Amino acid sequence: RGKRAFIAGVADDNGYGWAIAKALASAGAEILLGTWVPALNIFETSLRRGKFDESRKLPNGSLMEITKVYPLDAVYDTPEDVPEDVKANKRYAGASNWTVKEVAESVKNDFGSIDILVHSLANGPEVTKPLLETSRRGYLAAISASSYSFVSLLQHFLPIMNPGGATVSLTYIASERTIPGYGGGMSSAKAALESDTMVLAFEAGRKGKIRVNTISAGPLGSRAAKAIGFIEKMIDYSYSNAPLQKELLADEVGSVAAFLASPLASAVTGSVVYVDNGLNTMGLAV
Ligand code: NAI
Repeated sequence: RGKRAFIAGVADDNGYGWAIAKALASAGAEILLGTWVPALNIFETSLRRGKFDESRKLPNGSLMEITKVYPLDAVYDTPEDVPEDVKANKRYAGASNWTVKEVAESVKNDFGSIDILVHSLANGPEVTKPLLETSRRGYLAAISASSYSFVSLLQHFLPIMNPGGATVSLTYIASERTIPGYGGGMSSAKAALESDTMVLAFEAGRKGKIRVNTISAGPLGSRAAKAIGFIEKMIDYSYSNAPLQKELLADEVGSVAAFLASPLASAVTGSVVYVDNGLNTMGLAV
């Protein structure tokens, strides 16, 4: 039987989530996506109109099939958590069942179970502010969208994950080294995500024989990264200083995610795996 994957955090064909979906599809997995509610309409329209057909191409020439796209807002666990102004917002009112608990229920009703859960989402409303100028609200929002969102997804999906399954999330080295400019509590959020990877690997391993790993990825000019404002500088810095002087392709992160989700990685859990052309190992810019 082929594996079934749910990938949270795909809203265009530029980011890591899309590349991971392709790598998993290429390895024979069935693809379900969770797309942020405000981005759902344009993503589905673009998909339908064939705007992504070129980037849906897999190495064997076929096009990646996306079995279903679920609206998702991973900062809300249940309908009771959704504030009135969000409920009334017309981008949200047009969709339904998009809290984490409801999405897990919908996937269960539609397909029964999954094997692979991917978390490829982050948001920090004050990311452009230094930590020293970040508000409590902005800091907590970054943690909520970028770290607790993974705890919540695993909490709600674990009961429908087949034993032997795996989860993968995306983190960034700003958690353990100072990256000036990666602000708003986003560095804190990634530190939480990495620590939670370890603790959840234990808990989900014991409870459901599920592996939990995170990929510490190098810089990619995704939509989310462009919002931070200095991604081109990061890419140039990496090119100049990493052991491997080449562009980092989203597909290279996709391949490692597919490996981590596969039986080839059956003894790997609780790990932070670097996919960054080796940049994390350098102690001196040359
Ligand atoms: P992206 O823009 O493709 O992905 C971020 C996704 O998160 C978007 O689809 C957005 O709609 C979604 N999202 C935001 N808030 C959400 C919410 N409340 N509920 C559901 N979805 C929500 O950008 P990218 O860069 O591929 O990001 C994916 C992951 O990779 C993130 O965790 C990011 O921090 C991480 N990463 C990115 C790096 C980069 O240089 N681009 C480097 C290292 C890690």
